Amino acid sequence: MTDRHQILRLTPQDKSKVRDLFPVTRNLIYFNHAAVGPLSTRACEAIERHARDQRDLGALHWKEWYAEDARLRASGARLIGADPGEIAILKNTSEGLSFVAEGYGWQNGDNVITTRLEFPPNYSPWKRLARRGVECRVADLPTVEKIEPLIDARTRIVSVSFVAFHNGFVADLDAIGELCARKNVLLCVDAIQGMGALPIDVRKSKIAFLAADGHKWMCGPEGATIFYVADEHRDRLEVLETGWTNVQRKGTFLEVGGDLVPGARRFEAGSLNTNGVYGLRAAIDLLLEIGIEDIAAEVIRIATASPDRLRHRRRDSTGRRAVVASLASDPRGEENRVCAARRHAALLAAFLQRRRRSRSADRDPPLLTAAAARPIIFSC
Ligand SMILES: Cc1ncc(COP(=O)(O)O)c(C=O)c1O
Repeated sequence: MTDRHQILRLTPQDKSKVRDLFPVTRNLIYFNHAAVGPLSTRACEAIERHARDQRDLGALHWKEWYAEDARLRASGARLIGADPGEIAILKNTSEGLSFVAEGYGWQNGDNVITTRLEFPPNYSPWKRLARRGVECRVADLPTVEKIEPLIDARTRIVSVSFVAFHNGFVADLDAIGELCARKNVLLCVDAIQGMGALPIDVRKSKIAFLAADGHKWMCGPEGATIFYVADEHRDRLEVLETGWTNVQRKGTFLEVGGDLVPGARRFEAGSLNTNGVYGLRAAIDLLLEIGIEDIAAEVIRIATASPDRLRHRRRDSTGRRAVVASLASDPRGEENRVCAARRHAALLAAFLQRRRRSRSADRDPPLLTAAAARPIIFSC
């Protein structure tokens, strides 16, 4: 992956054009995408246009709003190598992972495997299945070596984060997908910390289910989520919410049958977050326009360059790392820096602070020199 990324690096001119689309870069040194990413002007204007439309004309253009839903499904599908019919728009990652956990047709005695690196949405829904007689097994890392020994004949699903929220560990989804296929187990992915920053291909990685809200590395608004359900596994999930948009209607609200609409849209029970849909579609289209491989090259360059300048840097046990992120400690907000509650971030902040006091700016690399002028927001 790295060699390819090096070849595809964005030129300084490309980067400067992209930076112009992110006003945040004029205000802050921003390393907080692992919490909430900044909006581009494109995403922001798409939301504003829609809000003005509803403000000034009510629902006059409702058909256009629904067309935007379809465009978001198509753009989300393109980003992960799926078909638009395999995408539902949900409210958040937690909802998507819960739809898988609660919707799967478990038998008493089945088990599911997750890992120690998970944010609660990829742990609590599985743990709660104990009440249905399903055991939740926890692997130390999202690696084939740690997961394989936990799989047995009653394992139904393996669920991992693409990128871990606290230390940036990148799961080798191709390898885990291969393992799952070999063992006849379904792979579910919490992709929120990777989608938008790194390439992901649901077919290549043999992923059955995936969920990612748009508000981190996709730089979209909160509350609009890409939920992928592979066509061939759709019927394994019971639909937990029904309303008026996911059931077959014969042109009228008074003649509603019990049949669900085809495709993953059956997981969308009613009105969507239309503001969020407009923002996320514009955000994903920008990622596609820049090119996810080029974005990944830049993310990896920054993630490996800046922490490597830390005197007290840490790595996970395998040395893999993709985002500037770290574990919780006291949040700080001294002088002109704003630091999220993460230990490595605090270290980086302290490091920059020391350099500002003790070294001349012209000896600092550009990233650190720039940090002297603006507040810094770190990842969490
Ligand atoms: C790995 C991971 N999953 C999920 C979430 C958030 O989930 P949701 O979209 O339900 O808010 C986060 C947010 O920090 C996360 O880091």
